[in-house]
Amino acid sequence: MKTLSKQTLPDFARWFSGKTVLVTGATSGIGREIAKQMAHYGSKVLLCGRNIETMNSLLKELNAITLSSPKVFFVDLADTKSLQELITEVNKSYDIGILVNNAGFGYIGDFYTMPENKIRSMQEVNIIATVELCRAFLPKMVKKSGSGILNVGSVASFFATPGSALYGATKYFILGFTDALHQEMLSKGVNVTGVYPGNTESQFLERATNGKVKNFEKAMNPTLVAKSALKGLSENKLRVIPGLNNRIKAFAASFFPKSILLSKIYTNTIKYYYK
Ligand SMILES: NC(=O)c1ccc[n+]([C@@H]2O[C@H](COP(=O)([O-])OP(=O)(O)OC[C@H]3O[C@@H](n4cnc5c(N)ncnc54)[C@H](OP(=O)(O)O)[C@@H]3O)[C@@H](O)[C@H]2O)c1
Repeated sequence: MKTLSKQTLPDFARWFSGKTVLVTGATSGIGREIAKQMAHYGSKVLLCGRNIETMNSLLKELNAITLSSPKVFFVDLADTKSLQELITEVNKSYDIGILVNNAGFGYIGDFYTMPENKIRSMQEVNIIATVELCRAFLPKMVKKSGSGILNVGSVASFFATPGSALYGATKYFILGFTDALHQEMLSKGVNVTGVYPGNTESQFLERATNGKVKNFEKAMNPTLVAKSALKGLSENKLRVIPGLNNRIKAFAASFFPKSILLSKIYTNTIKYYYK
C-alpha cells in the first residue's frame, strides 16, 4: 500500500499535505518520527542526517507510506562549510514550506571534563545550525502563507542543568530564540513553534553518556512526541511540552528555590552517568 487512507490521518494532517519539509536529524529518534509522520500526512520530505545505514532504513520505511521520493542530504551540521552547502543546494532547488530544526546532541558529566571537540560542535549543531537554517529559509517562507518552523528544545530549556551544563544552555537558547521568532512571524503568516520534550526513547542518552547508559527510565515514545509537536505547529502554538510530567516540571521550575532545584537536578543527572 502506497498511501494510507484519509480516515487514519488526524485532522491537523491537512496542514502538512503538499508542503516541502526539511528535517534535520531525520535518521534517528524524534526527528525520524517527525519525518515519517509528515511523509504520511502528504509532505514532500527532505531528510538530513549523517548515518548512511539508518538513513537507508528510513528510506525503506518511507517508501512504504509515500509515493513521493524523499531527498537525502548527508551533512555534518557541526561543519560550517557543509551547512552552507546544504543551504545553497536546498535554496537552489526547493521552496521550503516547513523547517524542522531537530538535530542535536547532549553530554552528561561535569563541564570541566567535557571533551573539547564536543564543546564547539554542540554549539554548532544545537544553536548555529538552527539559527542559520531559519535565516536561510524565512525570506521565502514569509512570501507564502501556510509555512512554518518547528524548533526542538527540551524540558531542560526551562531550567539550568548542572551535570549537563552546556547542553541545557543550548536548549535555553532555543526557547528564547523560538519565542521571539514566533512573535515576529505572527503577522507574516509563518507558524513558529518550539517543542520541549522530556526524556524520550532515542539514541540521545547513549550518545550523551558515550555509550555508558542506553535508555532513560520512563522515557516517552518518540511517536507521541512527534505527533504532539506537529499538531502544535499546525495550530501555531508558541510552546509544546509533551507529557503531563514534563509540563509540571517546566512550570514548577520557576517557583522552586533555585539552590534546591539545582542540587536535585545535578544529583539526578549524575546518577545516570555514574551508576
Ligand atoms: N531524547 C530525549 O530525551 C530528548 C529530550 C529533550 C530534547 N531532545 C532533543 O531532541 C532532538 C533529537 O534528539 P533524539 O532524542 O532524537 O536523539 P538521537 O536519537 O540521538 O538523534 C539525534 C539526531 O541528530 C542528528 N545529529 C546529531 N549530530 C549531528 C551533526 N553533527 N550533524 C548532523 N546531524 C546530527 C543525528 O544524525 P546521525 O544519527 O545521522 O548522526 C540524529 O539524526 C535533539 O535536539 C535533542 O536535544 C531529546
